[in-house]
Amino acid sequence: MQVEKEVKTVLKKEKVSSEKKEKNSEREKIIVLKGVKKVYRMGTERICAVDDVSFEIYKGEFCCLLGTSGSGKSTLLNLMAGIEKVSSGQIIMKGKNIHHMNENRLAKFRQKYLGFVFQSYNLLNSMTALENVEFPLVFKRVPNKKRRRMALEMLKKVGLEDRIKHKPKEMSGGQQQRVGIARAFVANPEIVFADEPTGNLDSKTSKEVMELIQGMARVNKQTIVMVTHDNKLAEYADRVIRVFDGKIISIEENDHSQKKEESDVNDEIAQVNKETSNEETSNDINNNDINNKDTNKEEFTEEVINLKKAEG
Ligand SMILES: Nc1ncnc2c1ncn2[C@@H]1O[C@H](COP(=O)(O)OP(=O)(O)O)[C@@H](O)[C@H]1O
Ligand SMILES: [Mg+2]
Repeated sequence: MQVEKEVKTVLKKEKVSSEKKEKNSEREKIIVLKGVKKVYRMGTERICAVDDVSFEIYKGEFCCLLGTSGSGKSTLLNLMAGIEKVSSGQIIMKGKNIHHMNENRLAKFRQKYLGFVFQSYNLLNSMTALENVEFPLVFKRVPNKKRRRMALEMLKKVGLEDRIKHKPKEMSGGQQQRVGIARAFVANPEIVFADEPTGNLDSKTSKEVMELIQGMARVNKQTIVMVTHDNKLAEYADRVIRVFDGKIISIEENDHSQKKEESDVNDEIAQVNKETSNEETSNDINNNDINNKDTNKEEFTEEVINLKKAEG
């Protein structure tokens, strides 16, 4: 009897696994990495940040690259986004080898299909929330009025309609990241890359930001590739790719049907706790990680320069 039960369980697991494989093979591969390597040279030292990595990202999925600091996640993300060049191997995005494109074409490709969310937000400090969100649309030559309308709509969606005239410094970290998300999604990109998007936020705000990203992507069936070191955040993803020492060590699917039930229960408990205690609303960690800011900002500035070049 017991054996029969075990056999049934194994058969069921195999069936589910082969169904998943079948499902994946039918799905459109929006990003394909084949034997990708990235070697940095520091004087005489060679650092292999990404070491012969191959995997696929499917259209419409929320995929997470999970790993400890220094494991090569950001490098991998930057390679996929065409911000850095591969040392060897191939990255095919929407059927095109992005490293065969010249700078102009790559910049246009990014502008058309990609959105970015950064850990340190990378908003332009001299601009208002509204202007920051309008920014990607300027390069897409969206007319003035339409641009403003789209940015406003987006800011409403992220719950910031009462902060449109605020500059980044006049907002909390969570609010700045909401602006960052509005900016990433405003042009309706097919793929959004997010590198530690909640790295500078407290846990409550992180949850809100994660739900926002997840919700946005679901509505428009966008593909999300997110980098994190946090196991908890990886639970939001459909699929988790574990990275260690520049290599992929596992790829797992998350079962959201079960997680949803658990999270509903947790939400209920949290709600009860909230009602019973006179909880203070927690503040964001607002003194933004200054060390981190400059590197990401440089990347973003470069991106802007590239976009400008593409603009002619
Ligand atoms: N521009 C660079 N020059 C030299 N080494 C780098 C550079 N960028 C990253 N690295 C090294 O590559 C490895 C992976 O870094 P990174 O991709 O930033 O990891 P993670 O994002 O997982 O923390 C680290 O050892 C890091 O020191
Ligand atoms: Mg990183």
